[in-house]
Amino acid sequence: MTRVLVLNGPNLGRLGTREPDIYGSETLEDLRTQLEQDAPDGVTVDLRQTDDEGTLIGWLHEAVDTSMPVILNPAAFTHYSYALRDAVSIVTEAGLPLIEVHLSNPHAREEFRHTSVVTGVATGVIAGLGFDSYRLALSAVLRRAPAGS
Ligand code: DQA
Repeated sequence: MTRVLVLNGPNLGRLGTREPDIYGSETLEDLRTQLEQDAPDGVTVDLRQTDDEGTLIGWLHEAVDTSMPVILNPAAFTHYSYALRDAVSIVTEAGLPLIEVHLSNPHAREEFRHTSVVTGVATGVIAGLGFDSYRLALSAVLRRAPAGS
């Protein structure tokens, strides 16, 4: 059984009503349903969201301690959280895949969104494809997950 952690940072709990022109009108629960449908037999999707940086970092530590591959939308933390970057680095240094995802294409938006302090220590990044960013990340992460994770 492989468990994939799908972690979502601040304000992503408001998907569906938050700037639908940018993020779409589907909710995080809709995303959970889609990923569960995509997940092959033997794969569990563990989707979580928090507005709290410390909680997100704790979940990344949990990924290391239990060898879980990670899909991470760090939301606004992407652009400035060195603490989150360091936690991501612990995950990838442990040999676990971590794909950074974004619903929108931050490079096509305001200048402060053009910087990601996470990308440099992530396994890869997929952005601008809405829920497809996560769906593509799921297949990528599974192809890279260590056996038995
Ligand atoms: C986001 C992009 C970030 O710039 C923003 O702060 C978010 C969502 C995205 O998924 O497009 O909250 O990560």
